[in-house]
Amino acid sequence: MIKKILLKRITMAVMTLLITGQVYAQHQKIINPGEVWPDNRGEHIQAHGGGIIKIKNTYYWYGEERRRGLDSNKRYVSCYASKDLTNWTFKGDVVQMTDPENLGQRWVLERPKVFYSKKSRQYVMYFHLDNATYKFARVGIAVSDRPDGDFKYLKSFRPLEHESRDIGQFIDDDGTPYLVFEDRPLGFHIVRLSDDCLSIDREMCLIAEHMEGGAIVHYNGLYYAIGSALTGWKPNPNRYATAKTLEGPWSEFKDIAPKEKNTYGSQSTLLLKVSGKKDTTVLFLGDIWKPKEQWDSRYLWMPVQIGDGKLWLPEPTPFKIDVKNGTAN
Ligand code: GAL
Repeated sequence: MIKKILLKRITMAVMTLLITGQVYAQHQKIINPGEVWPDNRGEHIQAHGGGIIKIKNTYYWYGEERRRGLDSNKRYVSCYASKDLTNWTFKGDVVQMTDPENLGQRWVLERPKVFYSKKSRQYVMYFHLDNATYKFARVGIAVSDRPDGDFKYLKSFRPLEHESRDIGQFIDDDGTPYLVFEDRPLGFHIVRLSDDCLSIDREMCLIAEHMEGGAIVHYNGLYYAIGSALTGWKPNPNRYATAKTLEGPWSEFKDIAPKEKNTYGSQSTLLLKVSGKKDTTVLFLGDIWKPKEQWDSRYLWMPVQIGDGKLWLPEPTPFKIDVKNGTAN
C-alpha cells in the first residue's frame, strides 16, 4: 500500500515537472566562463552586449537576442532574471522592433542597457541604433513600466550632438545613472543622465582615447574605466584607467590581462559590483563574439583582482559567486 502511494506521488511529481518544463531547470552552482550557459529552459542565454540592473533582490540582464530563426527585419532584446547571477530565467524578448528610423536592411540595434528612473518609475532602455554602414551613430530609447517589458520605442538622438556607437552603463553607489559612449572623432565620453533618464543631463568628461565596450566601476573610492580597442568583433587587449572623480583626471590606460591573451578572446561589456555582508566582488562581464554563428556567442564573466588603482583579469576558471556575502571563489 505505502509503496503504491509512493509510486503515485513520484509519478505525479515527474508529470508536474514535465508539464511546467522545470525538468530542464537544473540548479547551477558554478559560472563557466566561455561555455554554453543554459537558462531555466536549458537554452543558451542570448543576452549579448548586455546590461544588468538590480531591482530589490533581482538582477535583470538585458542583451542582444541572437538566437536562430528570428525575423530578419526585426531586432530583439531579451530579458533574463536571477537572484544569484548564476541561474537565469528567460522573461521574454522585451523588444521586438522593426526598423524605427528607416535605416534600411541590416539596420543595427546593439548593446542595450536599461536604467530605472525613480522619478518617472519607468524602465528606460538605451541602445546603439545604426544603419548597415554604421553612419547613423545614434542612441535609441525605449521605455516600459515594468522591468520585463514590453519596451516601446520613443526616440533616437546623438548624445550632446556627438556620434555614438558602442554604449556602456554605469550606476554609481548613490544611484546616479551614467552612459558611456564611443565617439569616433573625439573619444570616450562619460555623461550623466537626467532624472527621468530620457536625456543627457551633463558631460562628466571626455577621455581622448578611442575605446569601445566602455564599462566603469566605483570601488573603494576610485573609479575604474575599462575599454576595448576598435577591432570590431575581433578581440584585443582591453585596458583600464582610474580617476578619483568621473570628471578625471584619468590615469594612463594599462592592460587588464597579458597583452597576448587578447582579453582571453572576449570584449568588455560591463563591470558589475557585487557587495555583500562579507566582501565586495567586481565581475568583469565580457562577450566572446562568434560573428558567423552569433547565436553561439559566449560570455566571459570573471571576478577581477582590484584595489589601490590596479585591476587585473586573471585567467578564466569556473567560479562560484555568492551575492549575499559578496564573495567569489
Ligand atoms: C564591435 C562592437 C560590437 C559590434 C561589432 C560590429 O566593435 O563592440 O558591439 O558593433 O563591433 O562589428
